[in-house]
Parts: sequence; structure tokens; C-alpha cells
Amino acid sequence: MEPVSLDFLGELRRTHTCGVLRAADEGKTVVLMGWVHRRRDHGGVIFVDLRDRDGITQVVVHEDVDPAVHSRAEAVRPEYVIAVEGQVAPRGPAALNPNLATGQIEVVASKIWILNESRTPPFPMEEQVDVSEDVRLKYRYVDLRRPHMQRNIILRSKITFAVRESLNAQGFLEIETPFMTRSTPEGARDYLVPSRVQPGSFYALPQSPQIFKQLLMVAGFEKYFQIVRCFRDEDLRADRQPEFTQIDLEMSFPQQERIFEVIEPLMERVCEVAGYKVSAPFPRMTYAQAIESYGSDKPDRRIPPMHGVADLLPELAHTGLPLVAICIPGTGVPTRKERDEFKAFGQERGLRVYDDPKRLERDFPGAMGQVRERTGAGENDLLVLATWGGEPKGHRPEETVYLACGQLRLHCAQKFNDRHKLLDPKNFQFLWVVDFPMFEWDEEDNRWNAAHHPFTSVHDEDLEKLTADPARCRAKSYDLVLNGVELGSGSIRIHRRDVQSKVFAALGMSDEEARRRFFWLLDGLEYGAPPHGGIALGLDRLVMILAGETSIRDVIPFPKTARGTDLMCDAPAPVPERQLKELGIAFRSPGK
Ligand code: AMO
Repeated sequence: MEPVSLDFLGELRRTHTCGVLRAADEGKTVVLMGWVHRRRDHGGVIFVDLRDRDGITQVVVHEDVDPAVHSRAEAVRPEYVIAVEGQVAPRGPAALNPNLATGQIEVVASKIWILNESRTPPFPMEEQVDVSEDVRLKYRYVDLRRPHMQRNIILRSKITFAVRESLNAQGFLEIETPFMTRSTPEGARDYLVPSRVQPGSFYALPQSPQIFKQLLMVAGFEKYFQIVRCFRDEDLRADRQPEFTQIDLEMSFPQQERIFEVIEPLMERVCEVAGYKVSAPFPRMTYAQAIESYGSDKPDRRIPPMHGVADLLPELAHTGLPLVAICIPGTGVPTRKERDEFKAFGQERGLRVYDDPKRLERDFPGAMGQVRERTGAGENDLLVLATWGGEPKGHRPEETVYLACGQLRLHCAQKFNDRHKLLDPKNFQFLWVVDFPMFEWDEEDNRWNAAHHPFTSVHDEDLEKLTADPARCRAKSYDLVLNGVELGSGSIRIHRRDVQSKVFAALGMSDEEARRRFFWLLDGLEYGAPPHGGIALGLDRLVMILAGETSIRDVIPFPKTARGTDLMCDAPAPVPERQLKELGIAFRSPGK
């Protein structure tokens, strides 16, 4: 049966979507258009579940009413695109479907048109499908039709709209910045774009709009935001993509708290749009506290903190490094095998793990009583003690111990989640982590790196320590954390040229090198740069958490695999020799 064009339908237009008709619409003549979700042929009667973005409506076709219409319904197959004209009728009591918003009615078809045919889809349009992610990504346009992917992408759209509304209401201007630019350092490799007119020269795709947004402050715009794509060539994980989207903002004349006052109502609104209520202000915690209590700079506060207990059990803390008690409530008493497993996990990370509290209680009854008191650990809870197993390591050795303990804590929490259920994805625990260290040590290059980026201010009290004691310098930088995920990062910037020079010096960067890399920002700072600061939130991560997903790929319409491939269009791909020639590019050893 040849499909028809919409013009063939003349004046007839779509009157409703497939999600809106209710019992009150009984008797109305309607025109629906959508995809054939399912077709059930009962001989003289055919049922077609018609689907569009909005929902599913049952269409019935009776052979005795119009055999021509019936035979057209016989011809349709799953995922055919059709138009139906018919009358809304109530369903009989036995046919009511409480699981469907339109389950009280059906549309009795008087006409059906096939608008397009479809090949048999590679997998059904169900909530859950039993195919590999690679197949889903190859046929992404089909995958995106599935209800849960539709929900995710629609939620993403609602969230971006709410972001625009909130920031617009707070006086922020939406301003675009270039994609073809010079390198902007955010700690990853750049994606490069060769110039045809200047052979041998390259643009870099921005890792973030960092320098541009600072220059927009120099330019006097005061409050800037952008929902912007960023590009980073780095190792990919479930929460990292080579191109991802930031809610990026910058403002002039802010203290740190002013930035938080912008973001908190924004987060309240975004959560509301997703159907959840969260209340600001969010708790604030210093980086040092986060490391000590959670062994992480992105604490998951759904699980209780760790406790230092070296003072109670000095016998076990002989190295002078922290002795940490980890308590996970509601796990029940772990079996020997379970204990062996998490003990090995801790040991692999350099810890000495005391996995048997019963034994410690025999050896140190009084002290263990106090440990239980401090941690609140009862008989039914997991209690593990851990300290460093070898020589102190790193420039902040106590931090190395806490970080390993933090990993063990999370591992145990995840391992027993089916028992304690603390990692509830709908329990949203926002947190501001503040006062990050200014620098982190780069083992490979044997030098200090900027922990955030080199344009971040140092705490006024720590300015003198920049070169003398870089390990202990605190930055005016902050992260927004949600359930153990770093949602966003920002800082108060350096707006004075002389201070910027000092920070470059502390990073081991000469003035010449700094000029070579960032001359346009440094020049800008010399023309009346106002004090300024900002933040960028990962939109993909935000939507992921609010959609209850565990991978950002499930909230990005066309994502890339862990190898950076777009399986649908098979990018990256070789290009014709002629194109390379135009760009003046030749490969030493040809690619695939
Ligand atoms: P930062 O590099 O911390 O800061 O990035 C901010 C937020 O962006 C998200 N993010 C990512 N999301 C998905 N895939 C990635 N590869 C990826 N990388 C980062 C995270 C992160 O918290 N210019 C500064 C911000 C500022 O100082 O204002 C910046 O880009 O959620």
C-alpha cells in the first residue's frame, strides 16, 4: 500500500496527541498521527496502539464498518507512521486500562492513512530492552523513541528552560563565546581544528569558555551565562563525554556566597521541574573537613561520615597517620567471605584494614566501646578500622590515607546497599565544598599544578605562602556536590595582573611562558578588570541524577562511546586525500 502525503489529507489536521484523550472526550471526532506501537489482529477487529511523544491511544478498526479501512489496518506493521480519523468511544469495563493515561477510551477508526512504512526495528520500543548499548547507539533514532529515553530528553529540555528562566530572572545575560579559539586550560587535551587559510595553524575547541567569560566581565557585562558545549580529549567514563554541556556563569563583584545565592534557587527550581523538592541553603563544608570525614572531595552524605579514632587506639596508629573508623549502618554482620573481599579492596589501595571488630573488642574492650560510641555503630552495622599500611606517601600524606579510606567506605556502602538501601537515588543531598587547595602535586611532571585552573584566587591569608608552602595554600574555589557526584566547580578569579603573575610563578611558569599562553587574558586584566567569579555546572550530570540514570550517555541524544566513537555516523572517520591536501596535512604513518 503506497504511503500518502499530508497534502493528500487536504484540510484535515492533527487534532490531538496520543496522550490527551479522556472519558470526557467521548463522541468527539479526532485526527491522530503517530507510530504503530503494537497491532493485534482479532480477525474482524484490529487493535492498533498508536504512539507519539505524548502517549499511547488505542485505535479500533471494525471490518464490518468499512472493509477498506480494515484492510489498510491489516497492512500496518510496528513503527509505521499513520494518520487516523475516528470517534472517541468509552471502553467497556473489562477493557479499561488503568496503566494508560488514555486507558478509559479508544478511537473507533473511520479512516486510516499510511504516511510512511518502517523496516522491522532492531529492538522493540519498550522501557527495557535486551540489547547491547552499541546496538542502541547505532540505531539511536530508534532507541530515542523508547519511553524512558523520551522522558530523559524531555526532562533535559525542561531543565534547560528552567535554567534560562531562573538566570534571566536574576539578571544574567545569555552571551555566546567562540568554539574556534585558542587553547583554554582545564586539565585535558585539546581537540584541534586545522586552518585552511593559514596552513600549519590550528584552532582549539574550548575546554570551557573560562577566559572568554572573564573577559566579558572586563567588558562590563556583569552577569553572564551560557548553556554551552565544551570539548575535552580525556579518558572517558560513565560521567564524562568528550563533548558535554555546561551551565556556565560569571558575575562581577561577588563574594563566594553571592555565587551560592544564585545557584541555590536555580537548583531548587530545577529539582522542582523534575518533580522533587530540595531546600536551600545547602550545607557548606571545607575541603579539609570533606577529606577527613568522607575521604573524598565529593562526599556522598547519604552515608554517615568516617571518624578518626587514633586517640582511642594509639596501638593501631603507630605510623602517626590517621586511624579511621568506617561505619555503615544496617548492613547486618558481614560474613567471613564478605570481610575478606573488602579487606582485599582496602589493601590494594595501601591500607591496613581491621575487618574483625569482635577480635578488636577482645583485645581492646574499653577503647572499642568508645569507638562504637563515637561512630554510633551498633551490632547490626558494619564497622571497619583502617590505617596506612606502609611508608607515608605524597605531599599531604594524611590525605592519601583518608582518600583510600573514603574509597573503602564507598565500596562497602555500595556492596551492602541492597540491605541498608541508603544510596536512594531520590534522596538528593546537595553540598558546597569550599576552600580547595590551590595546588596539587603532579607526580609525572614533578611539579605543582593548579588544582582548579590558574586563574583562581588564593585566600588572602595564604597569599604569602604561594611559593613558601604551596601544599597548604587554600584557593577561593568551591564545588557543588550532589550524592557523591561533582556537579559543578567554580572560583573567585584573580583580577589583578600582579597577583596573576605570582600564581604563575608558583606554578613554575615564567612570565614569558604565561604571556605566550594567555597574553590576551593578561592584557585584559590590565584594563580595569573588576573583581569577578563564577561557576560551571555539568548539565549532563545534573540531568542524569534527576532522571535516575547512572550514565550521562542516557541523557545525551547522540553520545559517544568510551572510545570516543559515534557509532551511528561512525565518527571519527578518515577524510578524502583532497581535503587533507587543502589543509596542508600529511600523516607520517597513515591511519586506518
Ligand atoms: P570544571 O572543569 O570543573 O570547571 O567543569 C565544570 C563541570 O563540568 C562538568 N564536566 C563534565 N561533564 C561531562 N563530561 C566531561 N568530560 C566533563 N568535564 C567536566 C562537571 C564539572 O563539575 N571553567 C571551569 C568552571 C569555572 O571555574 O567557572 C570549569 O570548566 O560537572
